[in-house]
Amino acid sequence: MCERSAQLDYHSGADAKRYHNRLRNPFLQIKEHALASKVAHFLPQGGKLLEVGCGEGSNLAYLARHASGCSLTGVDFSEEKVIFMSPGVPKVTPVCADATALPFCDATFDVVYLRDLLHHVDFARETVLDEAWRVLKPGGRIVILESHGRRLLSRLFMLVNPVERGMRNSTPEQLQAMARRLGPTKLQYVEGSFVLRALGFFLGWPEGWMQVPARLIYLMGSAWEKAHALVLPPEAGMYMMIDIRKTS
Ligand SMILES: C[S@@+](CC[C@H](N)C(=O)[O-])C[C@H]1O[C@@H](n2cnc3c(N)ncnc32)[C@H](O)[C@@H]1O
Repeated sequence: MCERSAQLDYHSGADAKRYHNRLRNPFLQIKEHALASKVAHFLPQGGKLLEVGCGEGSNLAYLARHASGCSLTGVDFSEEKVIFMSPGVPKVTPVCADATALPFCDATFDVVYLRDLLHHVDFARETVLDEAWRVLKPGGRIVILESHGRRLLSRLFMLVNPVERGMRNSTPEQLQAMARRLGPTKLQYVEGSFVLRALGFFLGWPEGWMQVPARLIYLMGSAWEKAHALVLPPEAGMYMMIDIRKTS
């Protein structure tokens, strides 16, 4: 499938800079802890979580802190990312596999987490969701995090990077329609502005004296995000979390 090979070409390497930025950048740490706590909320004590398309494992590293005592598994189709994750993210079982054919038995996990994955498997969204549903236990949840495909920043990303173009189908209406096919669903806007994340994409979190100007720029970004949150309603936000409950 040519869409899949284009995605694999793009994602094949491990992006250590992105991983360390997510973990060390204090401005992103706040956001990541808030997201991990929302996802961990769906896990029962001692439960099992699977992240599909987990990349270098930064989400799982945060989840390990918010869901201690739970079992965490990460799947990605990039061997390099899985190898990067193996020693780097303790307490996580890394598995190299494709989201369209998960190597797990039916009804294994309490939560299946898909963060920023669906727009990269746009050609197989339904298959990926059906696989996630298959490995989910009754009573469990699929938790999806996607950027709003109609926002300006998403449109810019789609313009400059062909692998992001599946975002055009990540609108709240389309995601909810797809989710409702499976079970009761809830959509919440979990982040308003993506200014800090966009800054992180370009600047990372530098070491040494470069951290001084970087910190100033991030502080301005943070002020922008606070103003955005004061002025605009949550529905004007960028990052959507959709959870789908498996009732039986
Ligand atoms: C934008 S990254 C998101 C990574 C991680 N979820 C996060 O939030 O940092 C998308 C990830 O999905 C993985 N991916 C894309 N298509 C996949 C597929 N068909 N099967 C498994 N992983 C896939 C990529 O290798 C990449 O790591």
